Amino acid sequence: MTLKVIGSYLVASVLLSYLFLACDKQSNEKNGKQKHPKVQFNPQLVKAGKKLYAQNCIFCHQADAIGKPGVAPSLTNQDFLSISSYKFLYDTIHDGRKGTGMPPFKHLSEKKIKSVISYLRSYAKLPSRIKEVKAQHKSQGDPRLGKLFFQQICSTCHGPGGNGYQAGGTGTAVGLRGFLDTVSDGYLRITIAEGRSNTRMYGFKGPQAMANLSDKEIDDIISYLRSYPGESTNN
Ligand code: HEC
Ligand code: HEC
Repeated sequence: MTLKVIGSYLVASVLLSYLFLACDKQSNEKNGKQKHPKVQFNPQLVKAGKKLYAQNCIFCHQADAIGKPGVAPSLTNQDFLSISSYKFLYDTIHDGRKGTGMPPFKHLSEKKIKSVISYLRSYAKLPSRIKEVKAQHKSQGDPRLGKLFFQQICSTCHGPGGNGYQAGGTGTAVGLRGFLDTVSDGYLRITIAEGRSNTRMYGFKGPQAMANLSDKEIDDIISYLRSYPGESTNN
C-alpha cells in the first residue's frame, strides 16, 4: 500500500517537473524572439566573442563583465543591456571614450566586435527596450537648472562637469562627448529615472528614489549634459 502511494507520488512529480521544464523552455523561446533583433544568438559568435572578451576587455571589465567601481562599468548589467542598441555598443567599442580609461578598439574587425557584442548580449534576460528608448522625445529642459541639480546630486559620483572616474568617483564620464555623442535622450532619461540595479547608479524618480526628481527636472539635467559640461576641463 505505502509502496503504491510512493510510486504514484514519484510518477506525479516526474510528470510535474517535465511540465515545468516544458513551460520554461517555451517562455525562453518567446523571450529569445523579442530579444535584440540585430544580433542573433549564434553560439559560435558568442564563443568567439567570449575569447575576444578575455583577451581584450576582462582586465578592466572583469569576469562575466560585472565591472568594478571606479575601474570600468558593468557590461552585463540587465538594465544596461535592455536599453543599449547595437550601434551604441559598436561605436563605444570601436571608438572608445576619449578622456577616459575606455580605449578604442579600431583594430578589431567588424565581425570581431559583433561577436563581442553577441557574447555580452548572451547575458541579457530582460526583453529589449530599444524601441521604447528610440521613441522618446528630445529633451527641452533648462540647462541652468540642470547644472544646479547635477552639482547637488550627481557630481559626487560622476565628478563636477561629469568627468567621471578621474574625478575620484564611481560614476562614468557622463559629461564627455565620447559618451554623450553615442546615446539618445531616451537612454539618458531611462537611466537617470530608473538607475541600474546592483550598481551605485540608483534611480532618481519615484518615492523610493534617492532624490525624487520630476520629469521636467530630469530633462533639465539632460539639457545640461547636452552642453558637454566636462569638455571645458578635458579634451
Ligand atoms: C552614488 C553614486 C552615483 C550618483 C549619486 C549618481 N550616479 Fe550615475 N552612475 C553611477 C555609476 C556607478 C554608474 C555606472 C554603473 C556601473 O558601474 O555599472 C552610473 C551610470 C550613469 C549613467 C550611464 C552612463 C554610461 O556610461 O552608460 C548616467 C547617464 C548617469 N549615471 C547619470 C546620473 C545622473 C544624471 C545623476 C544625478 C541625478 C547620477 N547619475 C547620480 C553612480 C552614481
Ligand atoms: C583599460 C581598461 C578598459 C579596457 C581594456 C576596456 N574598457 Fe570598456 N570601459 C572602460 C572604462 C573606464 C569605461 C567607462 C568610461 C567612461 O567613464 O565613460 C568603459 C566603458 C565601456 C562601455 C560603455 C558602458 C556604459 O555603461 O555605457 C562599453 C560598452 C565598453 N566599455 C566595452 C568594452 C569592451 C567590449 C572591451 C574589450 C573589447 C573594453 N570595453 C575594454 C575601461 C576599459
